[in-house]
Amino acid sequence: MNEFANYQFLTGKGNLMRGALAAAVLVSVSACNYSGNLSGMHWFLDMHDSHAVESQEEDYTTLATAKGDGWTKGMDDSEIWTGAGSYRTPPEGSVPRNYDPYPYAAGEGAIAGQELQNPLPKTKAVLARGQKEYNAYCAVCHGYTGMGDGPVTPRFPDIPAVVSPTIMNWKDGEIFHIVTMGRARMYPYAAQINPEDRWSIVHYVRLLQEKRKQDPDYK
Ligand code: HEC
Repeated sequence: MNEFANYQFLTGKGNLMRGALAAAVLVSVSACNYSGNLSGMHWFLDMHDSHAVESQEEDYTTLATAKGDGWTKGMDDSEIWTGAGSYRTPPEGSVPRNYDPYPYAAGEGAIAGQELQNPLPKTKAVLARGQKEYNAYCAVCHGYTGMGDGPVTPRFPDIPAVVSPTIMNWKDGEIFHIVTMGRARMYPYAAQINPEDRWSIVHYVRLLQEKRKQDPDYK
């Protein structure tokens, strides 16, 4: 290599290009970062930080309103539930979607009996459903025929029959009500049995009552 060639090597156009390429690679690699949520160096900040509060995230823009001055972002995770979060406390009387509020208090069985109608037809399918649900949830105490003689009776005495003349005189809504709200030693079954299945149980209890009337020892 002569002197001139050496000079070309150091200052030649190709070399400048290589240098620029290496610099570009370095810059882009330096922005890469594999650790957690840190995204490394940011070159263009436009639109990087969204001002929208993510769902269930602390809303620091209203933190001072909710907690008074001196509170800063991230100070208290519980804030998302106490007014400074994007999740707002629902207004009084709000109900979840697809939820039918039950308007009768525990002691209002008679009113429920007057006002509630069994929405289900007394079909074979409904009775079969009622039987399945009754046997699963009620028979353990009230017995498979409704006589109040279910398998728990020795340890849990004095369970009333659901095929007694008293309950035969109850309105459908009253039976629905006691299953929904419970009474004294009988717990409510609203959480375990959905309303439609509760109404199918009411039909099935009526069927047990009809059968009971056929018993020779009835009355
Ligand atoms: C853990 C036992 C238990 C289960 C399970 C149970 N009950 Fe009861 N039930 C009772 C007891 C005890 C009473 C009496 C409550 C009281 O003392 O006021 C009662 C009362 C009743 C009454 C009123 C009876 C009367 O003469 O006043 C009806 C109707 C009734 N239950 C229906 C049902 C139905 C329908 C189911 C199933 C969804 C069911 N129960 C599940 C224990 C149970």
